[in-house]
Amino acid sequence: MRTLVAYYSHTGNNRYLAKRLARDLKADIEPIRPRLNVFLFLLLSSWLHITFGIRKMEHDVGSYDRVILVGPIWMGNLITPLRSFVKKHGKNIKTLYFTTCCGGGDDEKNDKFGYTGVFRKVEQHAGKPCAGCEAFPIKLVVPEEKQDDDEAMMNARLTDETFKGPIVDRYIAFLSRIQNRS
Ligand SMILES: Cc1cc2nc3c(=O)[nH]c(=O)nc-3n(C[C@H](O)[C@H](O)[C@H](O)COP(=O)(O)O)c2cc1C
Repeated sequence: MRTLVAYYSHTGNNRYLAKRLARDLKADIEPIRPRLNVFLFLLLSSWLHITFGIRKMEHDVGSYDRVILVGPIWMGNLITPLRSFVKKHGKNIKTLYFTTCCGGGDDEKNDKFGYTGVFRKVEQHAGKPCAGCEAFPIKLVVPEEKQDDDEAMMNARLTDETFKGPIVDRYIAFLSRIQNRS
């Protein structure tokens, strides 16, 4: 079973998640590189739904049995690097998964900025249902007493030190869903 993990990350959380998935699934991994990799432009273009596209992937995306797309959520949007990727490759991907380390937790998942809407957008742009979508809210690694502290939430990072507890349970469940499908 050949797997490609394709990811975009600005501050490293989704890079950490992507690398971990690639390691555990013995997958190839590649960052999605926007043509114009300027944060403010990407933020604005995600919001306005415009894009200058992404650079050609080094791996042949369509040749993989499954592709796991990984990246953040900004302002409730499927961000432009991810949107460009699914629009460009969605048709050729045999089995697509999407996962995100996002800011909003499970209690906000159906809100305007929550992850459920983004899962739907991935499927819309890919033109096919995902075999699985999962969110790893950063909240899962922030102690409960700090979860109301915006700064602590914004500065929280997935690392080998923080990746423990409930996030690991969710991660293992996601991995086994992927593996049991193969
Ligand atoms: C400008 C901005 C907007 C964001 N908007 C959302 C949002 O709407 N929903 C959400 O769940 N998280 C949101 N987040 C949180 C990010 O998804 C979260 O910090 C993510 O882990 C960052 O991933 P990265 O480190 O891979 O770049 C936002 C973060 C930034 C910087």
